[in-house]
Amino acid sequence: MNTVKTVRELRAAVARARSEGKQIGLVPTMGNLHSGHAALVTTAAQQADFVVASIFVNPLQFGANEDLDTYPRTLAADQETLLQAGCNLLFAPAVEEMYPHGMTGLTRVTAAQLSNELCGSRRPGHFDGVTTVVSKLFNMVQPDLAIFGQKDYQQLAVIRAMVSDLNIPVQIIGEPTVRADDGLALSSRNGYLTDEQRQVAPALYRHLGQIAKAIKDGERDYPELARQHLASIKAEGFRPDYLEIRHAQTLLPATAEDRDIVILVAAFMGSTRLIDNLHMGLDS
Ligand code: PAJ
Repeated sequence: MNTVKTVRELRAAVARARSEGKQIGLVPTMGNLHSGHAALVTTAAQQADFVVASIFVNPLQFGANEDLDTYPRTLAADQETLLQAGCNLLFAPAVEEMYPHGMTGLTRVTAAQLSNELCGSRRPGHFDGVTTVVSKLFNMVQPDLAIFGQKDYQQLAVIRAMVSDLNIPVQIIGEPTVRADDGLALSSRNGYLTDEQRQVAPALYRHLGQIAKAIKDGERDYPELARQHLASIKAEGFRPDYLEIRHAQTLLPATAEDRDIVILVAAFMGSTRLIDNLHMGLDS
């Protein structure tokens, strides 16, 4: 596996692979890779002939008081993980390579419909940062397909909307969430948790499971169901941003008639922001 740091080298390597008739798969990441990221690369290697991963901690998607400076950067370990998972090329650019003219006045991509609620309302500008950097990566690599995790449910929806609205010829594949044995969704931010917080954190996923069970058992007062679990999550020591039951495609508040539902949660444990979700179909 080669590591390149410039767009020029990236394009040259991808052009070589394409001239050999290879299908190109892209896995964008911010590094500090865990088995969730590795699963994306494994799927990409199954679906494409040449897998490009990117590692770029994208300043454009971090808010002023967020963890841009402390976000873990672990390139050597990440290279090993990518190699093992079947990655062919790593693109790991510096900020100046991605944003040579800086970020003020930059042309941006906005998925207006889905970007301003849930995580978007708590992290203003976050999804514009994501869609802008992902569309840059799409233009740099011009992959046939790209893999994103369902763990970041809203992000995946926003990227699907962007690709559809802008006719970007990239197939988007959603990878199921990889979890620790106790249910906690793997995340680079889990490393911020103290041992004690790490013990409590899996409660988030347990609540999602309990809500899903209540819905399966016939509960249809979604606002009340969410309110009850939000209160329990608070009592357990989280500082929740939201807990919402939404339509899985539109992300609008779910109605009793909806059959495709996603339960989404975002909550702080100490200073660490955790997100998770559970997607469920209901038999009609
Ligand atoms: P990052 O948080 O590094 O995640 C990279 C990809 O890995 C995303 O598609 C994310 O959904 C997926 N992922 C993370 N944890 C996962 C898990 N436990 N199981 C399955 N997939 C998981 O998301 C980003 O980076 C950035 O916003 C990015 C898309 C790279 C744009 O900067």
